[in-house]
Amino acid sequence: MNVTFLLNGETVQVEAEPTRTLLEWLREDQGLCGTKEGCNEGDCGACTVMVTDADGARALNACILFLPQLHGKAVRTVEGISAPDGTLHPVQQAMIEHHGSQCGFCTPGFIAAMVTGHLQGRTDHDDVLAGNLCRCTGYAPIVRAAQAAEAAKVPAWIKDEIPAVDGVPDAPETLDALAGWYASNPDATLIAGATDVGLWVTKQLRDLPKVAFLNRCKPLREITETQDDIHFGAAVTMTEALAVIRKTHPSYAEMIRRYGSEQVRNAATIGGNIANGSPIGDNPPALIALGATLHLRHGTKTRDLPIEDFFIAYGKQDRAPGELVTGVTLPKNAPALRCYKISKRFDQDISAVCGCFNVTVVNGVISEARIAFGGMAGTPHRAHGVEAALIGQPWTSATITDAAGLFAQDYTPMSDMRASADYRLKVAQNLLQRYFADLSGQATSVLEVSA
Ligand SMILES: Cc1cc2nc3c(=O)[nH]c(=O)nc-3n(C[C@H](O)[C@H](O)[C@H](O)COP(=O)(O)OP(=O)(O)OC[C@H]3O[C@@H](n4cnc5c(N)ncnc54)[C@H](O)[C@@H]3O)c2cc1C
Ligand code: FES
Ligand code: FES
Repeated sequence: MNVTFLLNGETVQVEAEPTRTLLEWLREDQGLCGTKEGCNEGDCGACTVMVTDADGARALNACILFLPQLHGKAVRTVEGISAPDGTLHPVQQAMIEHHGSQCGFCTPGFIAAMVTGHLQGRTDHDDVLAGNLCRCTGYAPIVRAAQAAEAAKVPAWIKDEIPAVDGVPDAPETLDALAGWYASNPDATLIAGATDVGLWVTKQLRDLPKVAFLNRCKPLREITETQDDIHFGAAVTMTEALAVIRKTHPSYAEMIRRYGSEQVRNAATIGGNIANGSPIGDNPPALIALGATLHLRHGTKTRDLPIEDFFIAYGKQDRAPGELVTGVTLPKNAPALRCYKISKRFDQDISAVCGCFNVTVVNGVISEARIAFGGMAGTPHRAHGVEAALIGQPWTSATITDAAGLFAQDYTPMSDMRASADYRLKVAQNLLQRYFADLSGQATSVLEVSA
């Protein structure tokens, strides 16, 4: 596949294997070894680069970014961050002045993430840097450097123009072309953000002989809103979705803010997070609790289904070979929606349990309940027994305590490296108590610690 992009300001044309990663190409073919390989699975940020397209600049992990995903974009590695005459970027200068580097292994990744954050005018440095791991300096000097650089002007040399390019066959630009091609090639692998597929290549060493990239298909990247609903195209990234969800569903947004890291959210798509059928994906329980509708397309045929019906069993979804997820529609109005993500680490971690609650109380009596969990079974699904026990009952602590016992009938969780079955069940029961406290106006935020 012939791919054209800007690398540190210069146009490059690469005849790329579709699943060659940017990191591998930079280090092995270009001798640009400033970008480091740490985990090679999106977790440490040592490989962070800045990628600019028509939507602006964002930080991405080069280790799980395939070269064709860069077609028509601009990439800056750490080698392209200071000015052509060697003048340091203000972020680099601040890192020196604030002693933000010791062994230096993580530093190129931090610099790329910080420079991107600086360009975007970000001051939420903890979020910007949650995907960058430093084992020796400690984060305080690095955050101080980011703060010190906040007021500095963005240097002109760091702003990239986007190259004009022709389309490429493996990245269809219309839904008709993509759906038609996939229906005729049902054995192909669709690649959206590659935050799952990237690991199939780098960790499982899988060959993917036939692929199609979704990132150039405009209809899949659209976000539309009506008075009542929000529609996300399947290839909308978690960062893009977060900006919209924040306006209507603050609790869901807070969960997404803790989804992977800045670099992961900038790549991962909402469609990929549903289509992969993972029992521990963060979006499905929230979307089930909201009663969202999933949209699919096979060739010219489209269909819609309640998202909860998509997840049939572990590894099995209601999706025919050659059928793609085109998007998801969710209601705007759900003031009682609360999403709780329980993970070993607060940031950059996958849920052990993710509970989403959406209960309607009318005149003190529960009239509707949608409760969905991830991490409690082979699929994300509703707690029908608990819901039935709540509906028609008064909204009281006693009702909650009685209903919570039914989680043991709704779910048979498993024990794995993230949590034991007993722990998961206890957490589910406690989260229902937390939901009651939350809606009753008691403080439940684990972000606020007071003595
Ligand atoms: C470091 C790291 C941290 C992570 N943290 C989290 C987290 O906190 N929470 C969480 O939920 N997940 C997390 N993940 C998992 C991952 O981000 C998600 O599963 C992601 O949403 C997948 O989306 P993608 O666009 O990257 O999918 P891809 O990797 O491109 O694809 C995933 C699968 O979906 C298929 N697919 C993609 N789009 C479509 C479509 N439109 N139609 C049909 N099939 C499609 C692909 O063929 C593939 O089988 C993390 C991953 C990494 C690497
Ligand atoms: S090498 Fe760790 S995120 Fe890429
Ligand atoms: S400076 Fe050594 S890992 Fe960060």
